[in-house]
Amino acid sequence: MLCGLVCTVAPVGICAPPVTHPQQWPAARSAGLIDPGSEARITELLRQMSLEEQVGQVIQTDIGGVTPEDLRRYPLGSILAGGDSGPHGDERAAPAVWLALAHEFRAVSVERRAGHTPIPVLFGIDAVHGHNNIAGAAIYPHNIGLGAAHDPQLLERIGAATAEEVAVTGIDWAFAPTLAVPQDVRWGRSYEGYAQDPQLVARYATAMVVGLQGPSSLNGKLQAGHVAATAKHFLGDGGTAQGEDQGDDQINEEELIARHAQGYPAAIDAGVLTVMASYSSWQGQKMHGNRALLTEVLKGRMGFAGFVVGDWNAHAQLSGCKPGRCAAAFNAGVDMFMAPYAWKELYASTLAQVRSGEISRERLEDAVRRILRVKMKLGLFESARPYEGRTELIGSGAHRALAREAVRKSLVLLKNDGVLPIPSGARVLVTGPGARDIGMQCGGWTISWQGTGNSNTDFPHAESIYDGIRSAVRAGGGTVVDDADPRPDVAVVVFGEQPYAETSGDRKLAVDNLRAPLGQLRALRKQGIPVVAVFLSGRPLWSNPEINASNAFVAAWLPGTEGGGVADVLVGDASGRARTDFTGRLSFVWPATVFPAMPGSPKGAILFPLEYGSSYAHPAPVAHLSENPAPR
Ligand code: BGC
Ligand code: BGC
Repeated sequence: MLCGLVCTVAPVGICAPPVTHPQQWPAARSAGLIDPGSEARITELLRQMSLEEQVGQVIQTDIGGVTPEDLRRYPLGSILAGGDSGPHGDERAAPAVWLALAHEFRAVSVERRAGHTPIPVLFGIDAVHGHNNIAGAAIYPHNIGLGAAHDPQLLERIGAATAEEVAVTGIDWAFAPTLAVPQDVRWGRSYEGYAQDPQLVARYATAMVVGLQGPSSLNGKLQAGHVAATAKHFLGDGGTAQGEDQGDDQINEEELIARHAQGYPAAIDAGVLTVMASYSSWQGQKMHGNRALLTEVLKGRMGFAGFVVGDWNAHAQLSGCKPGRCAAAFNAGVDMFMAPYAWKELYASTLAQVRSGEISRERLEDAVRRILRVKMKLGLFESARPYEGRTELIGSGAHRALAREAVRKSLVLLKNDGVLPIPSGARVLVTGPGARDIGMQCGGWTISWQGTGNSNTDFPHAESIYDGIRSAVRAGGGTVVDDADPRPDVAVVVFGEQPYAETSGDRKLAVDNLRAPLGQLRALRKQGIPVVAVFLSGRPLWSNPEINASNAFVAAWLPGTEGGGVADVLVGDASGRARTDFTGRLSFVWPATVFPAMPGSPKGAILFPLEYGSSYAHPAPVAHLSENPAPR
């Protein structure tokens, strides 16, 4: 077969798609998605809808490029707010403004007018660590930190709390959870994955889907304060060579199944309503064009009865496709295009392809049926939405307390020579580039796509790590001092990665190139001041010099808005007894060199294995580490 794919497994020019054996994949069944009553209603709707309306359902575009009035002419099935999109171009719009926008779009979609079948538009957003595009929302630790918590029940509660905040703003659908099993942490999206252990990812998949959507038997999810979830990115997003974002998984089918697919049957069995296709490729073939995996495996063997949404303009990457035209992705099994660009052209070309037979009527009807099924299960056709407008739930005390609990449970203690816990009566220097920077605590996918450009005033309910420690030591009669203080009892230095998302987070080596704090750590030690390092990062990075230069080293990941959770564990009571112990354990291996380590890497490549974590109750021995970044 001759094709235009970039092909890594066959001679140039001749490219056979990778062979797939669906019967070798785990079987699953979409729980609660199909019932005779809804299916009959869908059949009736399909009968009423014009061909134009059916084609409209399979297209989603971004609120940055569509107005509610546009929906009169283009009956689109869905809209999204991408990472950099806010109502009327304002990323910091108040929750009530988000809700008003949702109302405007919805009103046009269900309007009664001649020649129009009223079908509510579905509104999606990246609520991936809380309702993170909304200023003032409770922001939970990014997934890598939640993985360290090893607590599925916590995940379910976070899912439910996130869904409530999404529902308040009139939005119906969260593009979460990410079920990637990241292998090479040079990947800029490593932090979006829970773990390198596929079984933990599977347990979390169930928990997060149930948290966001409610139990699979629940119809009218929106009425109960739940939203649709998305299992993403199908499949193998975390397995690309060299950790390249949107890259190629050069692995065999057994490994694809055993390592990267495990979260999906769990999510499907829990009733997940949508799956997002991955930008990445497997053996040189782009997932958006992989019919065997999207249709035969996902919808066949795994029994997925919801719909597959494409990723942001990803269809345009298929050979022969462009933003405004791509039958190949649709025919492979993508049911809804995510089409931020050229969506009018895509609507026209898809309509023409159905008329010409390039896309069959059956394929179109199957996609529309799946989309309408999701809308029905959500309760989109019901008008009552009791959570809408309850803006007091955005960043509420209960949600913040939950986020703080998650922070406590996500911290992993990598070293402690006895300096921790800090007695609350102490004189504590809290310093370093991350001490008072809430944007840095939150990382990417926070208000803006990259998480850059945020200042503390964008986080009205949040607490920095500095403020959290200050209130903990004040409670015990201690004080927090600044860099000018000559004699602090102990220094807490907060440093690490600056925010990034997706490709811009890709690195060449597993090392943080912001080495600046090392000098500061060493200078403090030289003055005889004990040092506690709090490392903020989206992945484990080679830190041997910093670990050696510190008396205690805490991997705090990207904890989110509740810096107080760090203080809960680091600061003890007045007598120096711990108030809360460390319970976090690594869900990613920690590298011993600047080269990334993965589970299964040679022993010398791994400094701390999966499940590693010291604690007050069971302190691990402290050793001096090699500072050679790349030993042979
Ligand atoms: C990301 C998805 C995200 C989508 C919408 C894409 O670039 O890969 O994870 O859901 O954008 O923002
Ligand atoms: C959008 C994101 C999207 C990204 C993909 C950004 O402009 O805001 O949502 O994931 O583009 O390229």
